[in-house]
Amino acid sequence: MKNPFRYGSRVSGGAFFDRARIMRDMLGVVDGGNNVVLYGPRRYGKSSLVGEVMARLRAKGWVCAEVNMMDVASLEDFVSQYARVLYREVSPVVGTLRHIAGLFRRVTPKVGVDDEGRPELKFEIASRKAGVAALRDVFELPAKICPAGRTLVVLDEFQEVESLGLGAQFERTMRSVIQNQPDIAYVFLGSKTHMLERMFSSPSRPFYNSAQKFILSRPPEDESRRFVVERFKSVGMTMPDDLAARVVSLAGNVPYYVQAISSWAYNAVAGGRARVVRAADIEEAFQSLYATETILMESVFMAHPESQRLLMRALAKEPTARFDEDYRDRHALPSTSTVNTALRRLIRESVVEAQDGVYTLSDPLLAYHLSTRG
Ligand SMILES: Nc1ncnc2c1ncn2[C@@H]1O[C@H](COP(=O)(O)OP(=O)(O)OP(=O)(O)O)[C@@H](O)[C@H]1O
Ligand SMILES: [Mg+2]
Repeated sequence: MKNPFRYGSRVSGGAFFDRARIMRDMLGVVDGGNNVVLYGPRRYGKSSLVGEVMARLRAKGWVCAEVNMMDVASLEDFVSQYARVLYREVSPVVGTLRHIAGLFRRVTPKVGVDDEGRPELKFEIASRKAGVAALRDVFELPAKICPAGRTLVVLDEFQEVESLGLGAQFERTMRSVIQNQPDIAYVFLGSKTHMLERMFSSPSRPFYNSAQKFILSRPPEDESRRFVVERFKSVGMTMPDDLAARVVSLAGNVPYYVQAISSWAYNAVAGGRARVVRAADIEEAFQSLYATETILMESVFMAHPESQRLLMRALAKEPTARFDEDYRDRHALPSTSTVNTALRRLIRESVVEAQDGVYTLSDPLLAYHLSTRG
C-alpha cells in the first residue's frame, strides 16, 4: 500500500479536496476573459487550486501556460522561460519553430541541451539592451499564437517580479500589453499577500484594479476531517472520526499540515500490524512533523523585530480579539500604538489572521513552537 497523503508540492486528483466554490467562481471569471489575483497565506493550497483550475480548462481544450516567478533568475531568464512555456503549450496547435521565430523581433529561438543532455528549446534576447523590448515581445505572444477565448496564463509567486530589479518597468510593460488582450485570461498568485495587495490595490500601480481578487482561506473543517477519514479508508485503514478531528485541530486546519500529520500517522500505522489509527499515533506524528519544522519556525520568528516577536508569542499563547491592558500586562506587551503597528505589519505579511474577529497566528506549528518554547 502506498501512503495516500501528499505534502510539499502541488496536489491534484484524489489528493485534492474541497475548494469547489472558489474554483467555480475563478473558472467563471477566467471563462469571461477576465483576470484573477489570488492571495492566501503559505501552504493553504493556492498553487494546487490554480493547478486544478488549469486541469479543468485543459480538459475543455484550453491552452494553459504557467511560469513560477520563484524559478526566474533574471529578466533574460523570464523572457526565455515565458516564451518556452508558451511555445510548448501551443506547439501541438500551431506549426513550426520557424513560425514562432517569425513572431519575435528581439528574441532568438535556439535548440540547446538541458541538464540531462536532452534537446531543449531556448530563447535568447538578441542583446542585453533589448531586454525590456523583448519583454514586450513575449507578452504579445499569447495573443499571436494562442487560441482566443481559450487561453490562460498563470504567474505563480508573482510578487517576485520585484526582485528582477526592473522597478515598475516590468509591471508597466506587462500591463500595457495585456490590457489589449481581452481574449487571454491571466491568473496572478502568490504568498506574499501584502506585496500583491500593493500591486493590485494601490491606485499608483500599473496593475491597479486589473484583476478580480480572491482570497483563499482554510477549508471547512468537516471537509478536512472527511478527507482524512476517506484517504485512510482508501488504503484499508480505519481513522476514527474523533481522531480525524484531532488531526485537523493540530493542523490548525491548514491543508499542508493536515496532509503532513496524516502522512506521519500513516507511516506509524503501516509499520505495525494494526490497521486502525490510535491517538498515540497522531501525537507521535505531530511531534515528528514538528521536529522537521522547528528550525524553520525559529527562523521565521527571528526574522521579525522585537515588538512583532512579542506580539507573535502572545498570540501563540492566547489568541485574542482585543489588546486591552490586562492582555498587554499578561504578555508584557508594549504600548497600544506599538502593538497596533506590529499587528498591522503581521497581518499584512499573513503571519497573523483574524478568525471570526479573533487574532491568531496563521501557522499552527509556529503557534505551537512559540507557546511551548519559553
Ligand atoms: N485542496 C487541497 N486538498 C488537499 N491537500 C491540499 C489542498 N491544497 C493544499 N494541500 C496541501 O498543502 C500543500 C501545499 O499546497 P500548495 O503548494 O498548493 O500551497 P500554496 O498555498 O501554493 O503554498 P505556498 O504558499 O508555499 O506556495 C500540498 O502539498 C498539500 O499537501
Ligand atoms: Mg504556491
